[in-house]
Amino acid sequence: MVKVAVFASGTGSNFERLVLAKKENSKLDYNITLLITDKENIMALEKAKDLNIKSIYLNPKSFENKIQYETELLKILTENKIELIALAGFMRIIGNTLLEGFKNPILNIHPAYLPEFPGKDGIKDAFEAKVDQTGVTVHYVDAGVDTGEIITQERVGINHDWDLERLKIEIHKVEHRLYPEVLNKICKKTITTGE
Ligand code: GRF
Repeated sequence: MVKVAVFASGTGSNFERLVLAKKENSKLDYNITLLITDKENIMALEKAKDLNIKSIYLNPKSFENKIQYETELLKILTENKIELIALAGFMRIIGNTLLEGFKNPILNIHPAYLPEFPGKDGIKDAFEAKVDQTGVTVHYVDAGVDTGEIITQERVGINHDWDLERLKIEIHKVEHRLYPEVLNKICKKTITTGE
């Protein structure tokens, strides 16, 4: 069973789905044992409390620089025996300290069909471009912004009668189904300590 930490900065709906999918199907090969956030007073932290998952808020502003911040993150990950990181709406670019220091996979879910519409506004950018289809991508994290190796992606057709809110709902539906599936597949392949 792979011990997973989810990193989030906002609503935490993907975090919640990952946890609930495991509760619904104990055969899934992962355990979400930790939530890490870079923001206080966010819904993701409330959800962690309700779901009985340990959470840690680490304020980047209380560190001198990104290296120090990520060094502390690494320490927390090691202490908690984390074997995989799943980013889910974490609004920071992962730096070299974490990328090189954490020897296990780091995954991200992106609300567009990469390499189309990278960046923090993937849904809005696709909506404003008036394209007929966008999508969802799960990929490994590298030093770039949404540039890591793609694991899975799925198309989402856009009905031009939809407003932006409706598109967000449709994207999230796909994300909530896809992320637990993909995480499970990756975890099946990941060598664990067996703890
Ligand atoms: C998701 O759309 C995800 O693709 C993006 O950030 C959003 C997070 O939503 N990276 P939530 O916090 O999981 O509800």
